[in-house]
Amino acid sequence: MGKQFPASKLERDESLRVVDNRTGKEYTVPITHNSIPANFFKGIRAAAGPNDRPEDETERGLRVADRGFLNTAVIESRITYIDGDNGVLRYRGYPIEQLAERSSFLEVSYLLIYGALPGASQLSHFTSEVLLHGPIHFDAEGFFRAFRYDAHPMSMLTSAFAYLGSYYGEANPSLQGQDLFTKAAKGDPAALQNMDRQIFRLIGKATTLAAMAYRIRQGRDFVVPPTGMSYTESFLYQLDHLSPTDHLSELHSTKPHPVLAKALDILFILHADHEMNASSTTVLQTGSSLPDPFSAVAAGCASLYGPLHGGANEAVIRMLISIGSPKNVPAFLEAVKKRQKVLSGFGHRVYKTSDPRSFIIRKVADEVFAVTGRDPLLDTAMALHDAALKDDYFVSRKLAPNVDFWSGLIYRAMGFPMDFFPVLFVVPRVVGWVAHWRQMMLSPSGVKIWRPRQLYLGPSARDYVPLEERTGTFQVGVGMEPSVIEHSGLAGKVRSKL
Ligand code: CMC
Repeated sequence: MGKQFPASKLERDESLRVVDNRTGKEYTVPITHNSIPANFFKGIRAAAGPNDRPEDETERGLRVADRGFLNTAVIESRITYIDGDNGVLRYRGYPIEQLAERSSFLEVSYLLIYGALPGASQLSHFTSEVLLHGPIHFDAEGFFRAFRYDAHPMSMLTSAFAYLGSYYGEANPSLQGQDLFTKAAKGDPAALQNMDRQIFRLIGKATTLAAMAYRIRQGRDFVVPPTGMSYTESFLYQLDHLSPTDHLSELHSTKPHPVLAKALDILFILHADHEMNASSTTVLQTGSSLPDPFSAVAAGCASLYGPLHGGANEAVIRMLISIGSPKNVPAFLEAVKKRQKVLSGFGHRVYKTSDPRSFIIRKVADEVFAVTGRDPLLDTAMALHDAALKDDYFVSRKLAPNVDFWSGLIYRAMGFPMDFFPVLFVVPRVVGWVAHWRQMMLSPSGVKIWRPRQLYLGPSARDYVPLEERTGTFQVGVGMEPSVIEHSGLAGKVRSKL
């Protein structure tokens, strides 16, 4: 039996009364799940006022402006819940702390995608499907070899996902019909199967592609995913097989070091999902026009790559190296306060207290350092962390450490090159992306293309002026003309003499 509410609670009027002072009209806006529908405001119309431009389209209804999606709910989701004020993160209702301590990455993946913790046979089926789909077509080796020796691994990984999508014509709505996946919502078993096969492939191949991006830069041959290992063990094995500085318990041993494999598994659990973060939103935005899921995941990779999102762990290490010794921390923080520097790994759009993942990661870091040795940058990190948490600038803005503050130190201790850190974020986040994508494809009301609006502040209608009639200063301001570029090489020298 459901929860009983007192009558007074049931009778509460779940609506918002809005008066448009331009017209004096009153509107009642329904409130559902403590939200109001933005589209309702389209019905609030007025005649254009003296300050309105035609482009404001005042007669066509109010628009809701939300630069950077600060307070816009773009989807109904049942996957992840964050209470940013209280530092709470739950996957499908389970606290992240319990999952990190007691679960495994593939079990958590099942939970995120299918909504419940699996039974033994369900977990075994899912695990074997994911691991079975690890190997990729031999041709893909040529794709990786086409990159330059110094290509960033995220450039390789982003394009590798898009590339690999081309292998699966049978799972591409552009080729097979736009309802290829969405008809799963109406109970079409083949559509559901097709969708899940793509999900197994994406998760299974994420480690393989990431390992290929890693090894190509070292001029080492690729490693076929091994059998008989967990997802994270298999990943470490593929990365380091036959490496002189490997993550294996003994040189050329068959299995990665158990402490490091467990640490990576926990890090993967922590990074698997984070509700409507920039990259998951990008995957959904891209997915909303119904391309194949490999293309949507490639778009997610591109979004995650940025230093404000998945590139932050790399930025933290660069920042710590630039600070050097703990004695330089006060000067660095002063520069941050003057906005000359950024304190990477601090602050979050949602968390206004410490990111709960940062506590778990801090503990994992000690376990990893016990195996790898202590990173001297840890002292600088701790001094920075403690000083920032005592400083009013950061306290008053509710800036606290996020997951990336410590994760880079762990990856560094494990020997990963800095530019590989975002890749270590992408691999587990593929699970969150596909969980959100699947949920959207299965939406009973169908998929609506994500097409936001803008406030157009540019010029009003004007007539074309022929080139010979354009005179005077054209535009004043930053970025109003193409930049003058210095060219290298013979062509550049010749051009500069023209
Ligand atoms: N260092 C110094 N000041 C900061 C920082 C920071 N790291 N983050 C925010 N602020 C200040 C900001 O200048 C602003 O101050 P004021 O109100 O005086 O103008 C105030 O705090 C509010 O910040 P905001 O930029 O409005 O916050 P946001 O929600 O738009 O940005 C953020 C969130 C994560 C992009 C930002 O905090 C940031 O750039 N942090 C550093 C990068 C980082 O660590 N990113 C990883 C995020 S966690 C991993 C993930 O989920 O991807």
